[in-house]
Amino acid sequence: MRVAILLLFVATAASAVDLDWWKTALIYQIYPRSFKDSDGDGIGDLNGITQKLPYLKETGFDAIWLSPIYLSPMYDFGYDITDYRQIAPEYGTMEDFKKLMSVAKSLGIRVVLDYVPNHTSNESDWFVRSARREPGYEDYYMWTDGVTDPETGDVKPPNNWVSNFRKSAWEFNKVRGQYYLHQFVIGQPDLNYRSDRVQEEMKNVLRFWLDLGVSGFRVDAVNRLYEADPKNYGGRYPDEPVSGIPGTVPDDYEYLDHIYTQDMDETYEVVYNWRDLLDEYIPKQGEYKIMMTEAYSTLNNMIRYYGTKTRNGSIPFNFSFLGDITKSSNAWEIKTVIDKWMTYMPSGKTANWVNGNHDQSRMGTRQGVDRVDAMNMLALLLPGVAITYQGEEIGMTDGEISWEDTRDPQACNTDDPINYYKKSRDPCRTPYHWDNSTNAGFSSNSGKPWLPVAENYRSVNLAEQINDPKSHYQFYKDVASVRKSPTVRDGDLDTRALSESVLVITRLLPGSPGVLGVVNLSDEAQDLDLSSLHLLPAQLRVVASGVDCSVEKGAAVSKSNVHVSAHCALLLQTVDNCC
Ligand code: NOJ
Ligand code: MG
Repeated sequence: MRVAILLLFVATAASAVDLDWWKTALIYQIYPRSFKDSDGDGIGDLNGITQKLPYLKETGFDAIWLSPIYLSPMYDFGYDITDYRQIAPEYGTMEDFKKLMSVAKSLGIRVVLDYVPNHTSNESDWFVRSARREPGYEDYYMWTDGVTDPETGDVKPPNNWVSNFRKSAWEFNKVRGQYYLHQFVIGQPDLNYRSDRVQEEMKNVLRFWLDLGVSGFRVDAVNRLYEADPKNYGGRYPDEPVSGIPGTVPDDYEYLDHIYTQDMDETYEVVYNWRDLLDEYIPKQGEYKIMMTEAYSTLNNMIRYYGTKTRNGSIPFNFSFLGDITKSSNAWEIKTVIDKWMTYMPSGKTANWVNGNHDQSRMGTRQGVDRVDAMNMLALLLPGVAITYQGEEIGMTDGEISWEDTRDPQACNTDDPINYYKKSRDPCRTPYHWDNSTNAGFSSNSGKPWLPVAENYRSVNLAEQINDPKSHYQFYKDVASVRKSPTVRDGDLDTRALSESVLVITRLLPGSPGVLGVVNLSDEAQDLDLSSLHLLPAQLRVVASGVDCSVEKGAAVSKSNVHVSAHCALLLQTVDNCC
């Protein structure tokens, strides 16, 4: 009897804990400033997001990741944080956040927040205290003395390190009489992870938001947490070697090879410790807490974030769709990009596919509008987590932003009114296109929003596409719905380039219908014979048909003859179960 009761208890507890939701999560990245402005100040806000949650649910998203919503002077649009526990007033209040959480919960959408551990704002209380050398805060940041020029007596930065946004990564602080490191803008002083107190403060930030019920974090710029330790370099921060990249000048970030400011060995341990902290919340809150880390690095470094034999880690963002696939990539190359991640990823870990974010040119611009359906389908059909940046589901493209309207510090710091656009991240941050009214329905006010709306909003907008069965949005939604099938969640993966221009992704699970994504990258229609996919049942049905396909949703197709028009992305499901 006792054993039976115990077993019942264990079974109930186990079913109440949702351990697996994240492994196949479809996550929508919201850039709050540009999503929906509910109060007419030209800046998106939390209430705007809350209003739109039913739409996100309807589309099929499991979770939203919000780019930073915290108190900030916005030199880097919220990635410079004054107080990790306060909401930026232009985005709303803590009450608004709690309302967002409760509406999201009632809809079954999980909320993931941006965690920015590498730096705070220079307006943060910690920085002010550290500059004054208040006891306990002295070493919160990366302080060091400058170098005195023996001839002129001028004090110069301690070494040649360059900020990600150009020019010296060191800034002199008069209060302290020393330089501090900022890997990003001057207003983003780097925290010192060699301080135990900093480590503990930042863990408390995680606990604060977990206690409010968030489902995990996206971790910003994680590979910048540590810099080379002066102890090992005669008490100085060592100069970085010149990269030799042609066309770069000493003020450019690319001018140096960042061997002392990125990917330091100590980084990974910190990530594993955060993972342990998140794991403590699993029994408390009955769900797994996701952690996705942002690092643009080598594949070998990325893989280390996944963990070790004895430690659990994070999901390192897979940026290969952003960096390694271009407008002209052919089917062989795209297959190779997919296979590479699947090959290097340690067994038992979860893959992920990122098609865009607020730092990169939009998919429709980077890879061409005629590849929007194909790239969305690939991300959603492949195993693991898929992340969609707001607007990619409707095929938004980069806006054109004049020098006068430019806001991104990375572009402003070029000081170049002609070439600034090459560095600018504003074009992918323009307001979301809800409809064809003034300001694309982004703002309740017809005044100028914080960034101008992209010009093509009258033709590319959600209202238009939601009513059009042949649209990027409908295609996305159809694919998202098939994604929830056991086959796409769990099935085996097969990737084939049938030719230079045809890519076929198959997912097969015994006892369930097979799912097949076919992409024609070429300008010509093709009739494909897929008989060589022996395990695939012969009769298929079209379950999602991209904007360029002539074969419509619902059509019956035989695997020996699949017609794909030029640039068509087609999703098929087998009539019979596999295999
Ligand atoms: C990466 C963020 O995505 C980017 O927007 C920001 O500028 C830097 N990290 C610094 O926080
Ligand atoms: Mg750092």
